[in-house]
Amino acid sequence: MTIEQTRVAIVGAGPAGLVLSHLLEQAGIESIVLDRRSREEIEGTIRAGILEQGAVDLLATIGDTSRVHTSGDRHDGIELHFGAADEAFERHRIDFPALTGRSVWLYPQHEALIDLIAARLAAGQDLRFGTTVERVWGVDSDRPRIAGTTAEGAPFEIEAEFVVGADGSRSAIRPAVTGGSHAGGYFREYPFAWFGILCEAPRSSAELIYSNSPDGFALISQRSETVQRMYFQCDPEADPEALSEAEIWDTLQARTPGTELREGRIFQRDVLRFRSFVSHELRRGRAALVGDAAHTVPPTGAKGMNLAIGDVLLLGVALKELLLHGSERGLDAYPEAASQRIWKAQHFSWWMTSMLHLAPGTSDFDRLRQLGELRTVVESEAGRTYLAEAYTGWPYRTTLSDVSRNDEDSRDMS
Ligand code: PHB
Repeated sequence: MTIEQTRVAIVGAGPAGLVLSHLLEQAGIESIVLDRRSREEIEGTIRAGILEQGAVDLLATIGDTSRVHTSGDRHDGIELHFGAADEAFERHRIDFPALTGRSVWLYPQHEALIDLIAARLAAGQDLRFGTTVERVWGVDSDRPRIAGTTAEGAPFEIEAEFVVGADGSRSAIRPAVTGGSHAGGYFREYPFAWFGILCEAPRSSAELIYSNSPDGFALISQRSETVQRMYFQCDPEADPEALSEAEIWDTLQARTPGTELREGRIFQRDVLRFRSFVSHELRRGRAALVGDAAHTVPPTGAKGMNLAIGDVLLLGVALKELLLHGSERGLDAYPEAASQRIWKAQHFSWWMTSMLHLAPGTSDFDRLRQLGELRTVVESEAGRTYLAEAYTGWPYRTTLSDVSRNDEDSRDMS
């Protein structure tokens, strides 16, 4: 078997890996991107996707295949609904542009991936699907290696100058970075999950509704004019097949008082567990983690894909420093710089989750305190602005000198 050579081996063809390969190519740095899934699986797995302005601006510049502006939907706000009982149920809107001058885009991740894969292949990217990485070693040397099995079942080995783990929450690269244990991170599990459906129906609301009802949380989201995505809080052990369509609609409707849900055939259902995770280490020697390989957030804050892009913008800068100028300064700064944004997003996702869900066994005190918290947010411009700033996203850091700057400085530059 010949040992192939490349400058950067990127494991994972999700948003993080594909965007990173583009950033490297722009700097003339060759990479190989590998993913154990097939192209059809990556493009066909329906995923959520709220994109911050900065992420949209970046995706729109990658190749000429991006449909984010033509197919993505700009959202200028979200609705927060909450209350004690039907009569007292309140509905509030958080107006993003008025509060922050920014918006978000609803553009499902698999659509962004279809665009990115087409753009990377058109640019000549070496992109290998169905390729499983089984071994990573030598990350403490300057020629780390990965080995595994190709789509055809043949063994392969690649020697690189750097290895990037962009391979999701079950990352094969993470143990090499954390020095052993696969979990190796700060972890929190929540005592509830989301029961998600996709249905054929017109929109029930122009904007997303996050509803904290006395029966628990519900989220009304969209996919298109004719396909809608909705969720309701459920037990993590719930069986997605156990409820009839009528029971699902009754549950959703009961949790969104005052909103008339437009029903239609349910063609997909799933139960999403809630976890918060940050890897103890984000870099070791010549390997680093980005995206879900580095961290997981519960979906309530809609931060997943945005955080992945934040990571690769920083790592891209650090890798250019290393591979074009031989300096490890950027790499040394990467974990701290990435962590700052990661932990802000962790906090925001945890805060939205705990403010909007009813944990099993919640006391009356906690329930009333939660309503007090929601009221504090919606009745104060400072409260609404805090939520809107975090939801629409903090400015991305994109130059090496940014790494040691604080946010106010980088805001000026964006
Ligand atoms: C979704 O559309 O699937 C979605 C939207 C917003 C979230 C989570 C999921 O916070």
